[in-house]
Amino acid sequence: MPDEFRIMRMSRSEATDNFERIVDLLYESHRMIFPSMDIDRPSIVERIDRLLVHLEGGSAMLWGGFENRRLEGFLWAFERCFVGERRLHVNEFIVAKSLRGRGRGRLLLDAATAEARRLNLSAVDLLCSVHMHDTLRFYDKAGFAVERYQLIKRLDGE
Ligand SMILES: CC(C)(COP(=O)(O)OP(=O)(O)OC[C@H]1O[C@@H](n2cnc3c(N)ncnc32)[C@H](O)[C@@H]1OP(=O)(O)O)[C@@H](O)C(=O)NCCC(=O)NCCS
Repeated sequence: MPDEFRIMRMSRSEATDNFERIVDLLYESHRMIFPSMDIDRPSIVERIDRLLVHLEGGSAMLWGGFENRRLEGFLWAFERCFVGERRLHVNEFIVAKSLRGRGRGRLLLDAATAEARRLNLSAVDLLCSVHMHDTLRFYDKAGFAVERYQLIKRLDGE
């Protein structure tokens, strides 16, 4: 893993400076995570616009991983209350496709986990699609366990 992968907590203005790159990373990963859904770029742009609003209001936390000054991964999280327990919820988490599997994601997750501990939160939680086998293995290695299942019954084309 190159030394120059630098993890930084990002402000709204730093996120704004990297807006297009954040959109590109999220667009690529959403197309992979939700292959049967019609993911369009404008909806991703809208999502990142909302991220900027949350950063401004202090309700979102964003860590970026930079290499040669280029954003190569990010983790967006927020504090939430789950059944009376304060947790850090990982909302979006992506490492650039060409750089996956070489320790960068772990560094981003470690930075978020350290902040969760600092804030005295009880846990870090997140959602992960069942077909994302590599990602599930990644979380397993990082100490995560399945807590709930999300069930769905399709109403179209029954
Ligand atoms: C999930 C993701 C952010 C992880 O980042 P990453 O840089 O690929 O992960 P790392 O290289 O830091 O992996 C850390 C550990 O997981 C292991 N790991 C990584 N990819 C793995 C794989 N495909 N199979 C098994 N283990 C894997 C690494 O070996 C490493 O273990 P070690 O610390 O014991 O050596 C990244 O793969 C990604 O962007 N995936 C697509 C989007 C996604 O699924 N996001 C999460 C949505 S919930």
